Amino acid sequence: MISIIPKPTDTPGDNSTAMVLRELQRMGRNYSILDIDSLDPFNCELDGGVIWVCGLKQDQHQFEVINALSVHHRVINTPLSIFTCASKVMTSALLHKHRIPTPKTLFTASRDEAVRFLREQGKVVTKPVYGFDGIDVKLVDSPDMLPPPPFYLQEYVPNNRDYRIFVINGKAVGGIMRVSDTLAHNIHQGGTGIPCEIDPGMQEVAGNAARVVGVDYAGVDLLRTKEGYCVLEVNGTPNWHCMSTPIPKLLAEYFVEQEQLERM
Ligand SMILES: Nc1ncnc2c1ncn2[C@@H]1O[C@H](COP(=O)(O)OP(=O)(O)O)[C@@H](O)[C@H]1O
Ligand SMILES: [Mg+2]
Repeated sequence: MISIIPKPTDTPGDNSTAMVLRELQRMGRNYSILDIDSLDPFNCELDGGVIWVCGLKQDQHQFEVINALSVHHRVINTPLSIFTCASKVMTSALLHKHRIPTPKTLFTASRDEAVRFLREQGKVVTKPVYGFDGIDVKLVDSPDMLPPPPFYLQEYVPNNRDYRIFVINGKAVGGIMRVSDTLAHNIHQGGTGIPCEIDPGMQEVAGNAARVVGVDYAGVDLLRTKEGYCVLEVNGTPNWHCMSTPIPKLLAEYFVEQEQLERM
């Protein structure tokens, strides 16, 4: 059985969970929907199969429940990888360790260190450590614009677009470029998504980034540099807005395959 934790931000017009459910129905597969808020991970009647976490609130209770469920079930993505992706600091640490190209980044509680980095760079991008959807991502060029500590600051990479690459099982299966006239090109900040070809550079960088954070599937955000591509972040519960690839079908097939492996 495939059990599903729906995305809390689904709406009738933008429902990631329902898109994959439709594909499972087409394939004639059984599934059940889990109500994570009322579920007791020590007493639930699941058969040890696959649990798909389409989305999760940034909330300690929900994280603890999926973590406990992962003792007896194949949770996709794993709780550890979802947590790693949610933290820009942990993601940066792993990208650095594995030498995956990413903008120069500083994380510190020291305002003096933050100002030193800002002076060295001229201008920096500031981001909330657990941020998403481009919220509070800002370009800062003077110390009085710095947010309150701790400071997660990044070298500004000049660009007029970014790329969101969808990776399943290490393979880049779909991509869009996002364009806007603001700093953060996220769809939620008004960016326009246009399907794009995946070139070998994108495949390599996005596939490696997904691998080192430990996700089964992900949305990897890239910028183009003179040298190739660099990784901004890896999303562990991604949407697939504007993708021309049939992502829901590919995900449904992947969950079915993983569930069969669990039963072997
Ligand atoms: N270092 C950077 N240089 C230039 N633009 C950036 C940089 N970091 C982020 N951005 C822009 O801001 C967007 C949001 O940043 P991201 O790290 O993906 O955080 P979020 O989790 O909020 O999506 C990116 O998709 C990109 O358009
Ligand atoms: Mg992003």
